[in-house]
Amino acid sequence: MDAVSSVDRDKVWQFLERFTDLAAGAATVGVLAVADRAGLLAKMAETEWVTPLELAGGQFAPRYVEEILSALASAAVVDHDPDSGAFRLPAEHAAVLADPSSPYSMAGWLDMLPGVMDKIDAVAQATVTGGGVDLSSYDDRVVAGVDRANAPAIRILLTRRWLPAMPEVVKRLQDGISIADIGCGSGAAALAMATAYHASRVIGYDIDPRAIERARLQGKASGLDNVSFEVLTGEEIPGGFDLITTFDVIHDLADPEAVLVRIRDALNPGGTYLLMEPNVGASLEDNMHPRGTLLYGISVLYCLPQSLVSGGPGLGTAWGPVRAEQLCRKAGFTHFRRLDIDNPFSAFYEIRV
Ligand SMILES: C[S@@+](CC[C@H](N)C(=O)[O-])C[C@H]1O[C@@H](n2cnc3c(N)ncnc32)[C@H](O)[C@@H]1O
Repeated sequence: MDAVSSVDRDKVWQFLERFTDLAAGAATVGVLAVADRAGLLAKMAETEWVTPLELAGGQFAPRYVEEILSALASAAVVDHDPDSGAFRLPAEHAAVLADPSSPYSMAGWLDMLPGVMDKIDAVAQATVTGGGVDLSSYDDRVVAGVDRANAPAIRILLTRRWLPAMPEVVKRLQDGISIADIGCGSGAAALAMATAYHASRVIGYDIDPRAIERARLQGKASGLDNVSFEVLTGEEIPGGFDLITTFDVIHDLADPEAVLVRIRDALNPGGTYLLMEPNVGASLEDNMHPRGTLLYGISVLYCLPQSLVSGGPGLGTAWGPVRAEQLCRKAGFTHFRRLDIDNPFSAFYEIRV
């Protein structure tokens, strides 16, 4: 009680409010993940104002639907009309939560966040003893969630907005060049490039066989014959590429410098390396906002442990543009240019030897 009597009670109440906000956000992600997996979010996206009983139809248990909708209304995710007792998922919210083709989709976080929370004990252990958590021990849902989180924007924006920021590279892609996507995950970027540039040949490499299996399945379904996928680390890729890309990969690596050196050596003369990393400021003070909080959170629970487990530097999601440039120059690149692409989540760099 002594400790409590010496504190400013107003500030305690303020922080209680703040923590309640944080806990409410976490609980809402849990409820949204339930609604997503049950198919309720998808059903709401195709329904106008609806009562819980109508929404339940014969498909869902009404009492759960009622409580889920109440939780989501209280969190301002769905609208509620107190007169009719009806609820609605606004189209703008559905674009973020329930439309897999939307470039604004953040539904992948509903797989990723619960998936990485599952490793809290392992990360806590590593926080005490050092070391980390092996990537292969994260649930398959995290692999799928990364794809679900990143693929919608990649599919729509990579060949329409991001690569066109380098017009001379696009010209070469149209003429036909050799491309490697390192840390390709489930293959979204490699498939987008192979679709847009038929004369070019794309190969996706990833250390995780689960990701490569998913990428191969999607490659097969696409019917494209200019894309393939291989389980191989960034340190081991062969040479002979005109364009090498990494999307949200370098900060996760056990040995980012070795991979950057390998990328430098694997590029043909005049080749380009396109680096995409989280869009953060150069210092913690620049990242004091919810996007920064989310990025630091995923860093603690996922990115840092998988680098540190192999004795890596644990760059973390917020390593920022200054350190990115320093590391690329250290790896032997001399041209480093931030591309003029307006994206709240990602920053893009054109890099050459
Ligand atoms: C955050 S995910 C990004 C995946 C994909 N580029 C995307 O944007 O969806 C990072 C990827 O890097 C892969 N990775 C980690 N270490 C690697 C290494 N040393 N060599 C190749 N891939 C690696 C992981 O398996 C994972 O698929």
